[in-house]
Amino acid sequence: MGDFSRLPTGHVARRVRRDDAARVLSSVSSPWTSAPLRERQAAMEKFQIVISPDVVDVLRHEHEQIRQLCIDVRKAGPGRRRQELAALGQTFYRHQLGERAVAHPAVRNSGADGNAIALGIQLKSEQLDRSLTEILRLGVEHADFDATFATLSDGLLAHAADQESDEFPLLRRHVSAQRLHMMAGAMNDIRIMALD
Ligand SMILES: [Fe+2]
Repeated sequence: MGDFSRLPTGHVARRVRRDDAARVLSSVSSPWTSAPLRERQAAMEKFQIVISPDVVDVLRHEHEQIRQLCIDVRKAGPGRRRQELAALGQTFYRHQLGERAVAHPAVRNSGADGNAIALGIQLKSEQLDRSLTEILRLGVEHADFDATFATLSDGLLAHAADQESDEFPLLRRHVSAQRLHMMAGAMNDIRIMALD
């Protein structure tokens, strides 16, 4: 999957991609333009799935952002560390919001082990939320900051690794491609409603 961070996301993106698909279809003389409406709509759905990220793509991309922000906090000088830490906190909060509302519920219904896997990952992520709140309260200038942040960073990296090895394969195996794309849109809509 390429870098889609500069592209619009969620329902706006779906509308844009749908327009792109319609433009492509209308520019082709045959067989598209003579195809029945239902076939043209099906073709547009396939076009949308191919070029837009699904929920696993979105979450994997966010994990990369979280990994990079952990590096940025460690590397930042005193003048920027507070800002980088705040960015990490906001990114993880938004990430968890979407996972709890959309991804974990779907994993719970995916196979015999889905419920236990989703519950385990969610409990650890709730602990990470508490650790982030505590380190923000501690402050970047505290003598214990580096050691405390190292533990937090290890937990965030473990979250990403666990989810990518345990949850994402279940979603890919048990949930249809179309549903995974709809979940990406639903996750974006939930975040917009919660954060507005
Ligand atoms: Fe995650």
